[in-house]
Amino acid sequence: MTNTDVKEVLNKLVATQGLFYTRLHQFHWYIKGQHFFSLHEKFEELYNSVSESMDEVAERLLAIGGQPYSTLGEFIEHSVIEERAEDKNLSESEMVQAVINDFKTLRDFLSDGIKVTEENGDDVSNDMLIAMKGDIEKNTWMLQAFLGNDAVDKK
Ligand SMILES: [Fe+2]
Repeated sequence: MTNTDVKEVLNKLVATQGLFYTRLHQFHWYIKGQHFFSLHEKFEELYNSVSESMDEVAERLLAIGGQPYSTLGEFIEHSVIEERAEDKNLSESEMVQAVINDFKTLRDFLSDGIKVTEENGDDVSNDMLIAMKGDIEKNTWMLQAFLGNDAVDKK
């Protein structure tokens, strides 16, 4: 039913979410400025949601016979987004923009994953990735609105 391509997609997603979870903590801890209270809370909401989603993806991977990455080293090695120690010094709007950029990277990765899961007939993983993509687009819209921007770039 499921081939190694689907497992690879799900596993890269687990690694990315593992790294993103820590990155969102960095922003939650180091946020400074007039919007401290709202952004401190928003970043917490986001890392909690990333953590829940990571667990769902890892358990789906186990259910199809895969082995999710489970160490910080593996997360760093396989994540499609990067962490940067110096990002703790970003301004509040730069932090929000950094999260938007990470969401865009993740959304593009999910778009590819949606195709891979579809091609392999894995409806359950496909459905899970589509729902995640919808959540990311909604969160991106809200963060863009916070910065005073439209949800997507006008062409
Ligand atoms: Fe906290």
